[in-house]
This record gives sequence, structure tokens and C-alpha cells, in this order.
Amino acid sequence: MQFLAIMLRLGPTGPMPKMERTYTVSRMNKTLSLLAAAGLGVMVSISAVSADLTEAMNERLKPVGELCMSGDECAAAPVAAASAEPRTGAQVYDTKCATCHATGAAGAPKFADAAAWGPRIGKGIDTLYTSALSGLNGMPAKGLCMDCSDDELKAAVDHMVEGSK
Ligand code: HEC
Repeated sequence: MQFLAIMLRLGPTGPMPKMERTYTVSRMNKTLSLLAAAGLGVMVSISAVSADLTEAMNERLKPVGELCMSGDECAAAPVAAASAEPRTGAQVYDTKCATCHATGAAGAPKFADAAAWGPRIGKGIDTLYTSALSGLNGMPAKGLCMDCSDDELKAAVDHMVEGSK
């Protein structure tokens, strides 16, 4: 439009003859519609690309582990931890409890030290189990075996008691 205005102002004497003005306007209309067509083309291709992108992003943003409801096919797969064999008392003791109980670290009663274990065994096995599960002073809860089941911990206590009589 500015272009048109300049043409008008630069006209040699007064307004341009009618013919020329019409010609200029119609040429501009052509240009504009060409531009519009090109713009539409660009927009169409952008929206096509963005649809692709959206799909790719959705694929990527999927949660890694999807929720499995019981009854779903995916829920049939056994959970690795649950199906693992329980560790024996000796295995738990060797890998977890020995850290303190083999050396007497932090005042722990040493394995096979009957004098240290005698009074504790006298408290009854259930008290010892409770100490192992919940902790007692310097004895941390679960003996720091956070992935031990209660049964595994009790087996470890049995192993220590048996070996320390
Ligand atoms: C960080 C060191 C540490 C680790 C690891 C540890 N204990 Fe202990 N435990 C102690 C200490 C210290 C005591 C003595 C606590 C007291 O009587 O004040 C103790 C005491 C005990 C007692 C006797 C509790 C009582 O009531 O007299 C049992 C049973 C026991 N531990 C079992 C275990 C088992 C089973 C594990 C391994 C799963 C384990 N502990 C790992 C430090 C440890």
C-alpha cells in the first residue's frame, strides 16, 4: 500500500491517470495472492512436520515402566526380587552382619564369642529377632540389610546364635 501511495505522490502532475492506477493495484493483488499461496504452502508443510514431531515426542515421553494392572498380560511376568531364592542365615551374616559382628565394631557381640552372646541368648530368641529387625543402640535396624526379608534376618540371627553358644 505504501508503494501505491508513493506512486501517487510521485505522479508528475496531480493524480495518475486512472488506467495506470488500476494496473498497479491489480499487479499488487497478483503479488499478494502469490505470497498468500506460498505462505499457505509453508504453513501446511509446517503443520505436517509438527504432526510428525508430536508423534515422535509422545513416543519418547512415554513412561519407562508402564503401569501394569493385575490381569494385564504384562502383570503375568514374575517380579525378579520376589522369585529370588531367600538367602540363608550364613549368607546374610557373611555379606551383611559380619561387617560389625566379625570384628566387634561399634561394640557388637562377636561371632562365636560365647561370653558375649550368653546373656543375650538368655533374653530369648524373640527378643534377639526384634533387635535385629528394629535395631538396638549401635545395632542398626535390619543390620543394614535393607533388602533382607524378616525371615532372612531371623535366619541370620539363628546362624549367629548357633555359632556363638
Ligand atoms: C553397623 C554394625 C552392625 C551391623 C552391620 C550389624 N550389627 Fe548386630 N549389633 C551391632 C551392635 C553394636 C550390637 C550391640 C547392641 C547393644 O547391645 O547395644 C549388635 C547386636 C546384635 C544382636 C543382639 C541384640 C540383643 O538384643 O542383644 C543381634 C541378634 C544382632 N546384632 C544381629 C545382627 C544381624 C542379624 C545383622 C545382619 C543382618 C547385624 N546384627 C548387623 C552392630 C551391628
